[in-house]
Amino acid sequence: MRLVTSNEIKMLDQRAIKDFGINSLILMERAGISTIEVMWNEFKNLEKYSYAVFCGPGNNGGDGLVIARELLNYTEAVKVILMSEKLTSEATTNLNIFKSLGGEVIKLSDDNILEVVDIIKSSDIIIDAIFGVGLSKNVVGIYAEIINFINLYSNYTVSVDIPSGISADTGKILGTAIRSDLTVTFEFPKIGHILFPGREFSGKLKVVKIGIPKVLQDLNPCDKILLTKDYFNIPKRFKESNKGTYGKVVIIGGSKDYIGAPVLSSIAAIRSGAGKVLLFSTEKSATVALNHELGIIPIAISKDYFDKSHINLILPYIDEKTSVVIGPGIGRNPSTEEFIVELLKSINSPAVIDADAIYLLRNHKNILSEKKNIIITPHPGELSNFLELDIDSVKYNYKLVKETAEKYNLLLVLKDVTTIISDGEKIFFNVTGNTSLSKGGSGDILSGLIGGFLAQSSNVLESSLAAVYILGIASELYEYEGYNLITEILNNIPKVIAEVKE
Ligand code: ACO
Repeated sequence: MRLVTSNEIKMLDQRAIKDFGINSLILMERAGISTIEVMWNEFKNLEKYSYAVFCGPGNNGGDGLVIARELLNYTEAVKVILMSEKLTSEATTNLNIFKSLGGEVIKLSDDNILEVVDIIKSSDIIIDAIFGVGLSKNVVGIYAEIINFINLYSNYTVSVDIPSGISADTGKILGTAIRSDLTVTFEFPKIGHILFPGREFSGKLKVVKIGIPKVLQDLNPCDKILLTKDYFNIPKRFKESNKGTYGKVVIIGGSKDYIGAPVLSSIAAIRSGAGKVLLFSTEKSATVALNHELGIIPIAISKDYFDKSHINLILPYIDEKTSVVIGPGIGRNPSTEEFIVELLKSINSPAVIDADAIYLLRNHKNILSEKKNIIITPHPGELSNFLELDIDSVKYNYKLVKETAEKYNLLLVLKDVTTIISDGEKIFFNVTGNTSLSKGGSGDILSGLIGGFLAQSSNVLESSLAAVYILGIASELYEYEGYNLITEILNNIPKVIAEVKE
């Protein structure tokens, strides 16, 4: 599903109005009535509840007035709180209809703020139509006070389009923001619904159509996409096949410091359906590998850290049907840096670069740029180190993910609660997963899973999308969120693959 920024949705609204004469009152009507429909589906008997509708100075306030007017058809217990003297002409039209139907309007001021707080406390449902995608600066003053009171005292809050105070473009809080139970957004989710904290503040998100013509949507290519299973294929299984049909994964990792990481990666690669998984590692990791899965072929070549002398031992095992995963548990020894650089120069296989291999390649980005089919899978700390930027400017920075992927000719997977994936053209946002993944080893599983799909298809984008999405769902299947062993997530992977394939 397409994701949009505030400018993109405003432009679509404007063109619907200008090019097709679907005027703003029509759009506002659809937005308001669709919100009522969602509320009906959520609560059923709308007549049972009392409502306070907070309307801001822009057209989001106008949507709120349509909602208030429609609610009068269910109950008299509807109050509109006007937050501003200034209203748009469309909002004024709807305010006049609301008034002519006998609706009660309270104009918020410093003098009646306590009365309004009482209304918040006594209403069953608060409708937040204070700011939509037009929020342009930090929320301060009486707006901020009311938002904080709503957060404190509301029994249930429905936000219109986006919780007021959340930036539609970044998901960040501009000053303060409404914590909604339910957000009804129009036509497409906004980036702010998908990135934290906006993702959390949105509560349950519902997307409804308001009649932006499809032809307009088709005219404007979309580069930001909410990842679903429609965007990738799981490599096929063939009745007549053998292990060679499903490719070979060469996993290079482990060190004196980390023993289990490359083993997790190797098991994930097997779980992906890959035909053969070779693990080049230390003796300890090789022993652990065999204790967990006899299907891994461990080749113990290093005692503590990799160095250049190991390259010739690995190269004979890499051919055109091989994908390579470099980095799980590999450590940061200087000899390993030289090893990775020289190894990468010598191979042409698609490769996943993970963990400390990303750190060790920070001064060798040119090598990555010169190669095809390279995937890097940093978390925000690793990407900040790789690009020498502070974490705040890296976290959830989808534009930076796209620019970096383009600049260095990479497929970049920025792992986080919302994972962002870009090939330099499109940007995918993944929202599957839960805190069961917030522990050591989940990144190793991901790199192995990507490597496994890559061995079967050599499509770097689809392999990464599939792995990120599937790992997220695998964590959701665990019954006691967060209290899992990381291997329990590994064991859920086949079930998820089977379901995604259906
Ligand atoms: N503090 C105080 N006031 C602020 C702040 C702030 N921090 N930030 C913004 N504002 C004010 C400004 O006055 C601003 O208006 P301005 O830019 O004209 O000065 C106003 O809030 C913006 O408020 P919003 O209601 O968020 O923005 P907008 O008027 O653009 O409407 C919209 C948003 C299109 C209604 C969207 O959220 C929505 O619900 N879309 C559904 C479709 C729809 O109803 N369309 C309506 C008509 S079509 C159209 O407007 C193009």
